[in-house]
Amino acid sequence: MVPPWPPFAIRVGLVTPLDAGGTRFERDALVEVDDHGRLARVEPWSSASSPASVDDLRPLFVLPGLVDLHAHLPQLPNAGLGQGLDLLTWLERYIFPLERAFDRRAAEHLAPHAFRAFAAAGTTTVVLYGAVYEASIDAAFTAAEAHGIRAVIGKVMMDRLRYDPALRDAEVLEASLRQTRDLIERWHGRDGGRLQYAVTPRFAVSCSEELLRESAALAAATGTYWQTHLSEDRGEIAEVRRLFPAALDYTDVYERAGGLGARSLFAHAIHLGDRELGRLVETGSRVAHCPASNLFLASGAMDLARYRDAGLCVGLGSDIAGGPDLSLFGVMRAGAYTQSGLRSMLGAQGAPLTPQDWLRIGSLEGARALGLERTIGSVQVGKEADLILVDPEVTMPIPGLRDDQPDGALDDLLSRLIFRTQRDMIRAAWVRGRRLDAAPPARSHVDA
Ligand code: GUN
Ligand code: FE
Repeated sequence: MVPPWPPFAIRVGLVTPLDAGGTRFERDALVEVDDHGRLARVEPWSSASSPASVDDLRPLFVLPGLVDLHAHLPQLPNAGLGQGLDLLTWLERYIFPLERAFDRRAAEHLAPHAFRAFAAAGTTTVVLYGAVYEASIDAAFTAAEAHGIRAVIGKVMMDRLRYDPALRDAEVLEASLRQTRDLIERWHGRDGGRLQYAVTPRFAVSCSEELLRESAALAAATGTYWQTHLSEDRGEIAEVRRLFPAALDYTDVYERAGGLGARSLFAHAIHLGDRELGRLVETGSRVAHCPASNLFLASGAMDLARYRDAGLCVGLGSDIAGGPDLSLFGVMRAGAYTQSGLRSMLGAQGAPLTPQDWLRIGSLEGARALGLERTIGSVQVGKEADLILVDPEVTMPIPGLRDDQPDGALDDLLSRLIFRTQRDMIRAAWVRGRRLDAAPPARSHVDA
């Protein structure tokens, strides 16, 4: 579907971070989307200026669609499995077998369900790793194109510790680069930039120096993103030290390959030394914080206050299936619990993060991590209408007991969305003003 499509106006509550800082909170607002999917009006309701046709959706609230900076499409079926294993064992046991089988057919089957599930969880932008097979990435992009979600996707590149037995070792690097180049040509920038490509070397343990270098050069030459994992798990870090003895540290492995910069997105990055943190900040590199995954796989905890004080750009990632849940509200919850725990362990420094901060990190900061903060990430006039509609009432301890909601309590509303997330609290999701299908599958469909 190409624009123009039908414009619409809704009367609704509104919660959004603002570009200039702070959060806007209205119980009764007008949100108008034009025929190119842009926000044309966002203002307090006033019947004097109300448009002719408007849907009254109160007491529901519009929020910006959430931005998931890190998820693995083929891993979704194993979400919630393997807790207690260390990262490298978990990958071998639960993940590589799944990805090895993720051919075109598997991707065609799973991807449409996955995109509906992301939308149902409130995610309107998703940054995905696929598997190593080119055809499965075509299938994933095709499904994203049809569904309407905003997506950045990449074929996983690995030329050691790999799982694609069809190729001989000597062929892997060349084939991986060629397939990545072809996928970029077919998909990067499609639908006016709604679909983008991320060159995706898995992590230093699975990649030769040459693959890292060539992949970074390819991303730079094509204006695509470059994404990988960084400093997630102690065993992984030890393995990287063994494989790259000349590097100063894990971050330096990627820097030597030309991989740091504003189009580079690093998942996890929880065990960084000061030198590494400094280099990420100085190069403008971006980080996908995945606290639910870090707890699930016992990887550790990010000292987020230290990172933010240093000026690092941090958004959120579900890391499905390292994280057990697609919901970024659940990821905010894991992050909030982690930071509370750290505060009491390390001794509190600075102000604690509030529910408003977590919403901002999951939306506007995620957009900023992708360089899209002028396009999405908040509900503000001129931006594209990537929105979700939430029903705070179902987050009440006893839904229906409505007098439990004090008037004007923004943090209370957000606190319940984050700490009492419910499956049915996301009532709709739009990208560029186009409603996303978020319907759950029929049971037989999924089991087939
Ligand atoms: N590091 C390398 N590959 C992966 C992966 O698939 N998941 C997680 N969580 N970490 C990784
Ligand atoms: Fe991951």
